[in-house]
Amino acid sequence: MPEHRALYVPEKQAPFVVKSIPTWVPGRGELLIKVESAGLAPVDWIMQSTGILVEKYPVILGLDVAGTVEQVGEGVTKFKKGDRVFKEGSLGENPFAGFQQYTLAHEDTTAKIPDNITFDQAATIPLALATSAVALYHDGENAIGGTCGLTPPWEAGGRDKYKGQATVVFAGASTVGQMTIELLKLSGFDPIITTASLSNAEFLKTLGATYVLDRKLSPEALHAEIRKITQAPFKTIYDAAGASETQHLGYDLLAPGGILAAVQHDLIAPEKKVPEKKSFFMYGDVNVPQNRKLGSSLFSKLTGLLEEGALKPIPVEVVPGGLEGIPVALEKLRKGVSCVKLVARPQET
Ligand SMILES: NC(=O)c1ccc[n+]([C@@H]2O[C@H](COP(=O)([O-])OP(=O)(O)OC[C@H]3O[C@@H](n4cnc5c(N)ncnc54)[C@H](OP(=O)(O)O)[C@@H]3O)[C@@H](O)[C@H]2O)c1
Repeated sequence: MPEHRALYVPEKQAPFVVKSIPTWVPGRGELLIKVESAGLAPVDWIMQSTGILVEKYPVILGLDVAGTVEQVGEGVTKFKKGDRVFKEGSLGENPFAGFQQYTLAHEDTTAKIPDNITFDQAATIPLALATSAVALYHDGENAIGGTCGLTPPWEAGGRDKYKGQATVVFAGASTVGQMTIELLKLSGFDPIITTASLSNAEFLKTLGATYVLDRKLSPEALHAEIRKITQAPFKTIYDAAGASETQHLGYDLLAPGGILAAVQHDLIAPEKKVPEKKSFFMYGDVNVPQNRKLGSSLFSKLTGLLEEGALKPIPVEVVPGGLEGIPVALEKLRKGVSCVKLVARPQET
């Protein structure tokens, strides 16, 4: 039976280990992918170090995958052996995880990588894009947490639909923030006001941010700066930092009928909540049944969006050492990175 190397957390809060495991066999509608690049995300070190979100051990982590199709399961028609593809993993689903040399994928939430994008660049995209897209564009049916309910810019009538509407994205330089700016730009929002370290300002403007405010300003100062830029009502605000201060500032800025999407649990104080303003915490996994319709629709258009440059990958830093290098790189991520996605190459193990 063929085997491959995988990076495991054997039990709660235990150090990572690399070991050989039997290679997965793709079922109906699934692909086996040789993983060339695997993106690292904050949730990976959080799950290893705390055990939260892990239901079963041993667990393989890693939610961003780019590689080559090795084998297709029954009924697969869109892909063939040798295709360059990328996809998102799911929490706790070992066969579909990224920190291993071979992984499985679902046909409908996998996309081909266009020629202008490398494996490393492709591995920066899935989780961040899914987290933005699910919150902004889910149609509301069985939505986990909530949705802004916007028409996706990759579907008919969606591009530029919200032309001239003002919006705020907190933490624009985070991976999720970058993807959110890009999507809101495609949707036509203007101005797009974001917060970041000012060293990232020029780069964020190339993605579509109109104004970049210093993230180190106090919430009161940020509120005043944002209101100096525009008095327009904010119906959609995205908080990619998810901190209590940013969530409260976002909620304060919302107009009646407005919605705040946050990457962390809703921290708005109960006494501040009013019926005419909504806030929610999204679940950025396109593979779960509740998000699958949105995920299939997005992944069916993703190759074209990257090819035309409508979506751009996140700046990438490749970490050395293959799978063995991931624990060290996760420590670096835990300490904080700026405007970059860390990516490992499992085949270099
Ligand atoms: N709910 C979900 O499904 C889901 C999915 C994915 C991620 N998340 C969460 O989303 C958050 C972002 O993840 P990520 O992978 O995008 O993180 P990341 O790229 O590692 O975030 C680092 C960036 O965050 C920026 N930042 C941090 N705090 C900020 C603040 N208060 N104001 C402005 N900028 C701030 C920094 O900006 P500067 O460099 O400009 O200073 C830095 O560039 C994490 O908490 C993660 O756990 C949730």
